[in-house]
Amino acid sequence: MPTVLITGASSGIGAAFTELFAKLRYRIILASRDEGKLNHLATDLQQRYSVTTLTVAVDLAQADGALLLYERLHEEQIDIFINNAGCGSFGFLHELDARSEQQMLQLNVMSLSHLLMLVLPDMVRRGSGRILNVGSTTSFYPCPLSANYSASKAFVLSLTEAVASELQGTGVSITALCPGGTGTSFFQSANMDEQKVADPKALMSPDKVAQIGYKALMRGQAVVVPGMQNWLLTQAPRLFPRRFVTRITRSVLERKR
Ligand SMILES: NC(=O)c1ccc[n+]([C@@H]2O[C@H](COP(=O)([O-])OP(=O)(O)OC[C@H]3O[C@@H](n4cnc5c(N)ncnc54)[C@H](OP(=O)(O)O)[C@@H]3O)[C@@H](O)[C@H]2O)c1
Repeated sequence: MPTVLITGASSGIGAAFTELFAKLRYRIILASRDEGKLNHLATDLQQRYSVTTLTVAVDLAQADGALLLYERLHEEQIDIFINNAGCGSFGFLHELDARSEQQMLQLNVMSLSHLLMLVLPDMVRRGSGRILNVGSTTSFYPCPLSANYSASKAFVLSLTEAVASELQGTGVSITALCPGGTGTSFFQSANMDEQKVADPKALMSPDKVAQIGYKALMRGQAVVVPGMQNWLLTQAPRLFPRRFVTRITRSVLERKR
């Protein structure tokens, strides 16, 4: 059975990916901080789908998190890697806690890139493998009141597009999945009021996001934005001056404080 490694597997989009791969009978490695949640989820998947699982509790907001996770996997062949763990924050940069912001950047940028660099060489040597990095619609434009977050997701998109080009002809593919508002605990963790930030009815389900991501991953598509409305949003910086898009984004988010 092929093996998939999923970071941020304990909830939201990551948990939706675990369900999807369990239905396909993959061996699943689940990683995030919450060991209890991971074990509960793994037992549930084993019982419902008879899949084998491995759980690794790790804090990827720590500088050595990526390495600690990879060391636990040294005997595993990773066929698919869902590089998903991430978090957000909300507020003017000068009002936010600098330490929490650094931890978010460690998680969203440094650990994501470090894990990619640890997993990729084996895949290239074997001539097979698929990787999905989770970005966001904010990967495409600056987002006042989420300045570090949107910059971290711009990094994910740029990194993925560049590496996708490097990987041509290697048998390995990489995809950036860039969702818009999705119904997960993301808003709560980022201290945002979900009711204010997005119309709950307009949020896409994490299952739908994972399905769209999976299809793009298997096609080896470099970038996918789930949903027409979200895709149109990502095209705004192409159609309008960047300064104008930033101003509009700010006025929309400021009203949601
Ligand atoms: N929801 C949205 O509207 C939305 C939109 C665009 C992009 N995204 C992106 O989608 C990805 C998944 O987010 P989600 O919406 O599914 O949110 P979520 O439900 O809050 O899930 C986040 C996952 O990341 C894990 N995680 C958080 N901090 C971690 C850390 N320090 N070390 C290891 N794992 C950690 C969490 O598990 P533990 O708490 O157990 O560690 C959880 O499994 C993120 O990269 C996010 O930026 C979300």
